Amino acid sequence: MVATVDEIPPGSSKVVPIGRHGVGVYNVGGTFYAIANYCPHEGGPLCAGRTRGRTVVDESVPGDSVMVRDNEFIYCPWHQWGFELATGTTAVKPEWSIRTYPVRVVGDDVLVTA
Ligand code: FES
Repeated sequence: MVATVDEIPPGSSKVVPIGRHGVGVYNVGGTFYAIANYCPHEGGPLCAGRTRGRTVVDESVPGDSVMVRDNEFIYCPWHQWGFELATGTTAVKPEWSIRTYPVRVVGDDVLVTA
């Protein structure tokens, strides 16, 4: 058990002491994700970054782009590489994805399998 469900309400996260750098556990609209707190680019503290959506081109709106999938991506605080929480992949360099961990909710407990 790494946390109770109440400790990580939707839209929030918690870094728990698993492994060398810790693991960030995220609640995105009731779905939990866990990722290594380590950026593969230059080793930045990934979970100190912010989550947001991803920008896609939409020529029908002012500015030609829209933000989709709010909070499903984490952006590294050092150089702003973005990673998908669910898969750990990054559009910047697909072979440099981050490690993700399975999360289960059992009763009030959030469990991460590391
Ligand atoms: S260290 Fe994370 S983007 Fe550079």
